[in-house]
Amino acid sequence: MGGTRPGFNIDDATPQDLPTCGDIHRESFTQAWEDGTLATMLKTKGTVALVARARKPAGHPVRGFLMYRVAGPEAEILTIATARKARRHGAGRMLLEEMIRRCLADRLQEIFLEVDSGNEAAIRLYRSLGFAKVGEREGYYRQGGNEPAEDGKTGNALIMRLDLTD
Ligand SMILES: CC(C)(COP(=O)(O)OP(=O)(O)OC[C@H]1O[C@@H](n2cnc3c(N)ncnc32)[C@H](O)[C@@H]1OP(=O)(O)O)[C@@H](O)C(=O)NCCC(=O)NCCS
Repeated sequence: MGGTRPGFNIDDATPQDLPTCGDIHRESFTQAWEDGTLATMLKTKGTVALVARARKPAGHPVRGFLMYRVAGPEAEILTIATARKARRHGAGRMLLEEMIRRCLADRLQEIFLEVDSGNEAAIRLYRSLGFAKVGEREGYYRQGGNEPAEDGKTGNALIMRLDLTD
């Protein structure tokens, strides 16, 4: 797609971005967070929220976001989602690449995440960035995990890890 992609800028989320992030979260996951959850999470020590702003149109609307938490030498991805209408245009990859850059700059050693084992789109994206499966939990998402509102869910959670020390 190259030059035809609209492109995104990755920034730290501001409080004004949170309602849009909430909308994107609601259209992406079956268990939507309540209003205020994002803001509360952001106040937790070590939590970082990044947004992907469309370069066009003017106003640079938020089309995707990623939240992660740093604890000691590791980071954990709490959530990542791109607005349905903006998917497959590179926002998810750019958000993760920026997170990885920051984690490397902070000399972290590893990044963990959990993903439904049927979530092909996300797993492909994570694998392409070097994440590898390190474990699996059966039935995790059926027990109230935050599963994506997509077909192909299995209920099992893959635990994936990116080694930053390589
Ligand atoms: C997973 C998600 C964040 C990807 O965001 P995105 O902005 O569409 O991702 P990108 O455009 O950067 O895609 C990067 C790569 O991921 C893979 N990918 C993304 N969507 C895919 C799909 N529907 N099918 C197969 N591969 C896909 C491809 O390898 C793609 O690279 P390519 O377009 O060059 O082939 C998005 O699909 C989403 O919000 N899903 C719902 C929420 C969710 O499942 N979050 C993850 C929970 S762990």
